[in-house]
Amino acid sequence: MKTILITGGAGFIGSHVVRLFVNKYPDTQIVNLDKLTYAGNLENLKDIQDKSNYIFEKGDIVDSNFINDLFDKYQFDGVIHLAAESHVDRSISNPLEFIQTNVVGTFNLLHAAKNLWSKNFNGKLFYHVSTDEVYGSLGTDGFFLETTPYDPQSPYSSSKASSDHFVRAYGNTYSLPFMISNCSNNYGENQFPEKLIPLFINNIRNNKSLPVYGDGLFTRDWLYVVDHARAIDTVFHNGKIGDTYNIGGFNEWTNIDLIKLLCGIMDEKLGRQKGSSAQLITFVKDRPGHDKRYAIDASKIKTELGWEPSLQFTEGLEKTIDWYLNNQDWLDNVTSGEYQNYYQNQYQ
Ligand code: NAD
Ligand code: TYD
Repeated sequence: MKTILITGGAGFIGSHVVRLFVNKYPDTQIVNLDKLTYAGNLENLKDIQDKSNYIFEKGDIVDSNFINDLFDKYQFDGVIHLAAESHVDRSISNPLEFIQTNVVGTFNLLHAAKNLWSKNFNGKLFYHVSTDEVYGSLGTDGFFLETTPYDPQSPYSSSKASSDHFVRAYGNTYSLPFMISNCSNNYGENQFPEKLIPLFINNIRNNKSLPVYGDGLFTRDWLYVVDHARAIDTVFHNGKIGDTYNIGGFNEWTNIDLIKLLCGIMDEKLGRQKGSSAQLITFVKDRPGHDKRYAIDASKIKTELGWEPSLQFTEGLEKTIDWYLNNQDWLDNVTSGEYQNYYQNQYQ
């Protein structure tokens, strides 16, 4: 039986990846390692927690002794690394945490994998999940390709870029077999309500203002999270060692257009008067160093590996909104406690 370590499996994207792998590969042992920060939640995995090929380990990737012991204990065949601090606004107020988890934590995993596998790298794989934000910001046209030079602008994207460089350095220097994918903005079930879409769904639900940064004309390329999990599965099993794959939704929206679409759907779902949610829109001070536009050219993964998004955006958005409206306990649980302080500091 193969054993795969998935880090950050209690988080937003990680939980969808863990679910896909546990259900699709019953003969593979999946070990989910997560520190359970504010963003990690075992509720996200309730439906698969009793499966015989699933194990949860609570721990911190920054703790090298713990990581070395874990690699010793399980003798992993592969790693899919998603654990990270992932929110740009938090990286602006607390950059050190991002350097620790995203850079030092990734280094600890790479080093442990290299030490465990160095006698025989055959059949082993370190798969690093990264972001399109490492490429910086686009003007009004053009797309990010796998060959686009790195130009990270925020502490978050700089820490992810640094971790990507360490992965390639371990491949180049020690022959560690690796793959990297860089994905655009994800949306879907179980995303912590600090990111744009779940934050605004929750605020509309509670009749709270919708804080739009700057002029709202910033552009993001949105992908449904389950399609990202499918892409990770495709790359992990069929990608080329040492290669990079850009993953995106071919789905660009300015923030303000997306928010208006979201408001319209929410009015219908909540049985509110048309236009009432949009009245909550409030333009607020811009995010410092706010990247203007991200857009992925995902043709490589499409032509080489046959992956493409399966869901239209409005369909995915409706599914997402339905999930949040049907899981208000989940939302209320994650927004109690620490979230209140975060919200107060960020949007006071
Ligand atoms: P998330 O913040 O929802 O989840 C991160 C998970 O990592 C949480 O479960 C958290 O508890 C865990 N974690 C954090 N620090 C840890 C530590 N020191 N040790 C062990 N576990 C720790 O993040 P997400 O949105 O699911 O993103 C997952 C990965 O995908 C990240 O690497 C992120 O950079 C990347 N990514 C995210 C997006 C997006 O739109 N969300 C897009 C592209 C790439
Ligand atoms: P976010 O979900 O934080 O993802 P990222 O910054 O990684 O792309 O933000 C998506 C876009 O929405 C980004 O342009 C910033 C903007 N935004 C707001 O206008 N208001 C908000 O309260 C938040 C959280 C984001």
